Amino acid sequence: MSGVTRRARAKLNLSLDVLGKRPDGFHELCMVMQSCSLADEVYVESAAPGDFLAQTNRSYIPTGDKNVAVKAARAYFAALGREGGAHMRITKRIPVCAGLGGGSSDAAAVLAALNELNGGALDEAALREAALAAGSDVPFCMLGGTALAEGRGEALTPLPGLPETDVVICMPYFNCSTPELFGRVDARKSRCRPDTAGLLAALEAGDVLGVARRMYNVFEDVLDRRAAKAVQEIKLLLLAGGALGAAMSGSGSAVFGLFPDAESARAAAENAKAVCREVFLAKTE
Ligand code: C5P
Repeated sequence: MSGVTRRARAKLNLSLDVLGKRPDGFHELCMVMQSCSLADEVYVESAAPGDFLAQTNRSYIPTGDKNVAVKAARAYFAALGREGGAHMRITKRIPVCAGLGGGSSDAAAVLAALNELNGGALDEAALREAALAAGSDVPFCMLGGTALAEGRGEALTPLPGLPETDVVICMPYFNCSTPELFGRVDARKSRCRPDTAGLLAALEAGDVLGVARRMYNVFEDVLDRRAAKAVQEIKLLLLAGGALGAAMSGSGSAVFGLFPDAESARAAAENAKAVCREVFLAKTE
């Protein structure tokens, strides 16, 4: 039987605020999310009941239950209430453990593909529930575009889209542990918070500069010294290269900048290579 191919876009956090800890152990978040053109490709085909496998072009990514794509496929059949199986082949381009929602976006693509293969058997609400079972960012990755994400990240309000904007995405030479950063945010009051209301007003007005100037992520405030220095260095480099604004995405370590045009983005990306492990050019979409 033939399968289905889907594009799985990376997400950027135009803002990220942690409002507090919830009784379920997760955190109450308030984030403005934006999808972009940096994307994985996800091919899904049906397999024998109980047979789940996710193969990628990265040897260090697990292929079984530890892979969020497999988690999503299992959540799909659990929601459907019948046994099923899926084989997935994922061409990864989005860096892993970057705060760019690569795994979450693959999971969202798997859910959409399985629903297509099963004749749309799950409705939107059931798909959203299966998405949240796979991970907090999966519901946004299913929706895409520009959205306010609250609660665990699943309470979504679509927002007026950012006009197509050039983005430079930089991967520093360090990784962040998501649970560790959440733990540090708990331990101290954030000194600096994003101006979410101002950001929403700027989006409403289609004011890219107003959006870019308000981008902020509270995790930037709790990085260890070395990581904070690297993030600062990249942000300054992007801003010196003409970025309208720059911030870390999600729980890092990716740092991105919004640019007024493709030319300045390209030049800044070239310069950023000197201090980054990887650099990507993309557009908001
Ligand atoms: O839901 P997901 O598996 O993506 O979350 C990964 C980790 O991030 C969780 O185990 C938790 O430590 C943290 N998290 C959180 N609050 C959220 C989302 C994620 O504490 N709203």
